[in-house]
Amino acid sequence: MTTTMKRIGILTGGGDCPGLNAAIRGLGKSALYKGIEVVGIQDGYQGLIENRTTHLGINELSGILTRGGTILGTNNKCSPEKYYEGRNDSGEPIYSNAVDRCMANAEEHELDVLFVIGGDGTFTCTKPLVEAGLPCIGVPKTIDNDIHGTDLTIGFTTATRIGTMALDRLHSTGDSHHRVMVCELMGRNSGWLTLASGLASGSDVILIPEIPFDIETVCKFVDGRKNEQSGFSIIACSEGAHEINGTQVVSKHIDNSPDPIRLGGIGQQVAHEIEKRTGIETRTTTLGHIQRGGEPAATDRVVATTFATAAFELAIEGQFNKMVALSDGHMEAKEILDAAGKQRLVPKDHRFIRAARAVRTCFGD
Ligand code: F6P
Repeated sequence: MTTTMKRIGILTGGGDCPGLNAAIRGLGKSALYKGIEVVGIQDGYQGLIENRTTHLGINELSGILTRGGTILGTNNKCSPEKYYEGRNDSGEPIYSNAVDRCMANAEEHELDVLFVIGGDGTFTCTKPLVEAGLPCIGVPKTIDNDIHGTDLTIGFTTATRIGTMALDRLHSTGDSHHRVMVCELMGRNSGWLTLASGLASGSDVILIPEIPFDIETVCKFVDGRKNEQSGFSIIACSEGAHEINGTQVVSKHIDNSPDPIRLGGIGQQVAHEIEKRTGIETRTTTLGHIQRGGEPAATDRVVATTFATAAFELAIEGQFNKMVALSDGHMEAKEILDAAGKQRLVPKDHRFIRAARAVRTCFGD
């Protein structure tokens, strides 16, 4: 198919994750080999607003497939509709609507289409640009795997591998010291990462936001294991997990972020309660950004390259304002705005949960 496209833009938005560079490479090389120029936008939407761009040629795109992070930089605090300008004399933050600036900069660079590699927050930020007439195509990424419309996102597989490795390793100390080992994983309001890592590592307890837990049930379960083998227990605890009738534990508020809440601390609370109620020595490990770092696993390189090249094909076909998605094993094109501001949570009867329950994993419910 021939195309009239001359230049494309690429940006990465939201938190970094393994596989972003593989996606940039997939998009960039697809375009360059068709004679189309590639403009990299730095630091997500902040770079589009501030007109900070970089040329992406074959040299810039070579050798990045295996690299973690994003060569373009990213940002999970900046939205075109709420751009942070600084503080006024009273020290209050000043925000402005920078949608027109984004549109003017996209026009200055003569972008025929903007490829947005991001999650639901980034796609929410894309909405006003789509509405203002900028053709956009989304490529889904996040370690949380919570983007509405796709069964898989770039970064999830690698983060699950890191989570699994950490939980595997905690078995040694748990077993040797007869302790309870609690490991807190990321994932925001969704439990995919904790569930998959917990299942893969054979964790004894898995706590996820979708299944509020009863701490007494968790304590009884780990206490009941005292007489089995060494009696240790491994608990995979999602940062968004919370007690029945309880609330999530917030670690930080970031005022100028489209999603200002950062979760964290529930692992520590669970560990404290278990030690207090059962007398079993308990320790906590919080994985934090370790889950987002380092080189992408082979599956993420494949997913990123497949998603990116499929996204480019959409542009060639003139199918704009779509997001590539994996649905029941098939690549599909979904409306990008359908993914904006929504979260794909773990269904309570998901086959991963049924599998974990079948091997006597406790969810604390
Ligand atoms: O969305 C990805 C994610 O890593 C979440 O799992 C986590 O809650 C959040 O981002 C952390 O954000 P930040 O990098 O701003 O601390």
